[in-house]
Amino acid sequence: MKLSYGRMFQDRLDQVHGLPRGVLAELASRFGAVQDEVRSRRTLGEYGFYGLGRQDAAAASIRRFAEGVGQAFDHVLVLGIGGSALGAKALLNALRAPAWNELDDEAREYFPRLTVLENVDPTSVAAALGRIDPRRVLVNVISKSGGTAETLAQYLVVREWLERAVGPDAVPRHLVFTTDPARGPLRALAEREGIASLEVPPEVGGRFSVLSPVGLLPAALVGIDVDALLRGAQRALEWAESDDLARNPAALHAALLWAADAKLGARIHVLMPYSDRLKEFAAWYCQLWAESLGKRQERGGAEVFAGPTPVAAIGATDQHSQVQLYMEGPYDKVVTFVGVEEPGVEVAIPGRPDLPEELAYLGGKTLGQLLRAEQEATTAALARMGRMSQTLALPRLDAEVLGELFMFFQLATGYAGVWYGVNPFDQPGVELGKKLTFAAMGRKGYEWDRLPPERDERDTCP
Ligand code: PA5
Repeated sequence: MKLSYGRMFQDRLDQVHGLPRGVLAELASRFGAVQDEVRSRRTLGEYGFYGLGRQDAAAASIRRFAEGVGQAFDHVLVLGIGGSALGAKALLNALRAPAWNELDDEAREYFPRLTVLENVDPTSVAAALGRIDPRRVLVNVISKSGGTAETLAQYLVVREWLERAVGPDAVPRHLVFTTDPARGPLRALAEREGIASLEVPPEVGGRFSVLSPVGLLPAALVGIDVDALLRGAQRALEWAESDDLARNPAALHAALLWAADAKLGARIHVLMPYSDRLKEFAAWYCQLWAESLGKRQERGGAEVFAGPTPVAAIGATDQHSQVQLYMEGPYDKVVTFVGVEEPGVEVAIPGRPDLPEELAYLGGKTLGQLLRAEQEATTAALARMGRMSQTLALPRLDAEVLGELFMFFQLATGYAGVWYGVNPFDQPGVELGKKLTFAAMGRKGYEWDRLPPERDERDTCP
């Protein structure tokens, strides 16, 4: 994996827009203090995700569990939301064949189908449960806190659906919980009912947990090589030990994005992979960047209302939608392109002798060639218009490279937290929303927070 960052600088753009070259030396000279802060916070127990590269024992037990479950189930249903859902979706999208759930058993090499419920929209929940055979499903309930309303509501719905199909005694055999080792309602339920469970390391926050059992179990169940994922993550972690900013890609990426925001007001950070297989990854990134860096207070307590806005785009599709804005709209964005050099599958574009000139140039090429050309063209066009970008070049998209990519962005987020001066590991805004949901649903102990009943009747139109 290689990061190209030259197109952040004026001298590689239109000489006017972008960062002056000198900013690089300034960032490099300040990086020692950033790295020191990360190291000292690691010793205090923050930055728990650094421990996820080496987890041989945990990975082996996840593998054993997945192999033990073997052919007993042909569908895995994940219940979870936010950091407890987005990683599994990104893994499935990137590392299993497209339209995985539509393939027959042989094409899936007898690995199960995988559905992530995520939202509590009744239309999607009802439709998903209508499609899945409850007698052949393993339900993985994932919640670090064990108390998130959406996930627990999904659990209650799914539990009754299971009970009706297999009877109450058999239900625990269809369940596995991934939750805190000691705390929360799910942990208590697992213990009371003898339900299989895995532990979310307490020091790893939800959106940093894809490489913990949160993402690794669903991955292993559908046949993804979890050891390779961790090998890739470990490689990213090793790069991040460098104190030289120019040799530490995640730190460099974060520093440049922060500088673009702080010095030029470019606070919209677009992730634009040129691969449909990274569509869910881009959604995972948006949660990570937004929930970690969007904070009212800086570490010292002062109000700063900080945080860049992440946006997901897909190349080449969004060249025909968002890119017009990136080319000619306000100078408030940085685009990070992600390209896959060897897509693993190629489709030839057939030539024909009778093609008019407007089509002839395509014949004899491949779709992969066209996609790469589109990425190069968009990068060059943005640069010509004075628009900043970076490019991550992936040699291919396998488990090892994806593990490295996940960890790269987690590391970058950890560094960005220091540059922005905020705590990237808390989410007081999300917690407030959770409490108000409890209140709105009449949970005991949250009455003080009940929303005013007339809330929907004021200021309405028509
Ligand atoms: O990153 C986070 O902390 C959140 O997005 C959580 O993952 C999300 O709110 C779900 O929480 P939990 O896993 O406790 O159910």
